[in-house]
Amino acid sequence: PIVPVILSGGSGTRLWPVSREAYPKQFLPLVGNDTMLQATWKRVAPIAGAAPIVVANQEHRFMAAEQLRECNAAPQALILEPMGRNTAPAIAIAALQALTTSEDALLLVLPSDHVVRHEQAFHEAVKLAAAAAQTGQLVTFGIVPTAPETGYGYIKAAKGDGVRPVERFVEKPDAETAEEYVRSGEYFWNSGMFLFKASRYLKELETLQPAILAASRAALDKATRDSDFIRLDAEAFAACPNDSIDYAVMEKTADAAVVPLDAGWNDVGSWSALWEVSDKDVSGNACHGDVIAVDCRNSYAYGSRLIAMVGLDDMVVVETDDAVFVGRKDRVQDVKEIVAQIKRDG
Ligand code: GDD
Ligand code: MG
Repeated sequence: PIVPVILSGGSGTRLWPVSREAYPKQFLPLVGNDTMLQATWKRVAPIAGAAPIVVANQEHRFMAAEQLRECNAAPQALILEPMGRNTAPAIAIAALQALTTSEDALLLVLPSDHVVRHEQAFHEAVKLAAAAAQTGQLVTFGIVPTAPETGYGYIKAAKGDGVRPVERFVEKPDAETAEEYVRSGEYFWNSGMFLFKASRYLKELETLQPAILAASRAALDKATRDSDFIRLDAEAFAACPNDSIDYAVMEKTADAAVVPLDAGWNDVGSWSALWEVSDKDVSGNACHGDVIAVDCRNSYAYGSRLIAMVGLDDMVVVETDDAVFVGRKDRVQDVKEIVAQIKRDG
């Protein structure tokens, strides 16, 4: 069965001031009324063969549990990490947990903070991927790149159609390399979603990253379980190397494959990305909340109090209880400067 594994442990500070460590973007309704976590479950529910496994930080346990309950997700396990150790261990623990109920579990690994506009196309891609995963391949979903982004993994696929072997996987190349890849037309972006047998992933870790596998296993073996949560053992998990599946496994494995995904995918890594995926009025403004926009174009507003704006072109206005952000749409990456400054100054 396809077991969705929903990764919900990131901190998403590029969407400050709305997304913060205490309230990261996966728990926010950034597009529509569902939070991104809820949208992730609803998107996969029609093709899921089992209840999801959700891996989150223990700080967010009530928020995660409540949001999952609201959308009837009824997870088979809500696994709590005492600290982040990135995605390779989080997925290892989900794999070990999945194998306790099903020997032939196929894990569909999903970030909890992405937008996929065309569900049908996503479901078709997953079906293709599932067939390849059954034969033991580690399948990724490739997006045709539109810009030399350095925040993504890049995948060079063998020629052909359907599920194609991966010739090369490069996580977060530098700007020059990314440009070369995009220009060549031979590379996909890695979407950050994966599909493989739980047993196959663990086998790969055993060879490539035995320390991650051992620490993950210990943290789960010694976990405390109550009716709602599986709390990983803090000491064992703290000893786990911090690494992402991309660096730890996908760059190194010989058995990766890629399925092209053309489904309106966006990882909403910035306010401008959010503007792109949101519904817009005739002037190109995307408004989330109570907004009056007079003579504004291609701008974005998000907040709960009334936001009134006049004469703005290509601007972003974000309002929260204790902070307001105003910036040019082409400068929103610099939100990270603001976050760094706030951290520095306390
Ligand atoms: N449980 C848990 N624990 N989840 C985590 C942790 C962790 O320690 N760290 C990250 N996550 C979750 C995030 O919440 C997100 O949903 C997902 O795992 C991916 O983590 P990111 O930190 O957002 O990764 P990234 O965006 O830098 O890179 C990945 O995604 C890109 C596409 O958006 C890579 O897979 C890239 O290759 C890919 O292009
Ligand atoms: Mg991400």
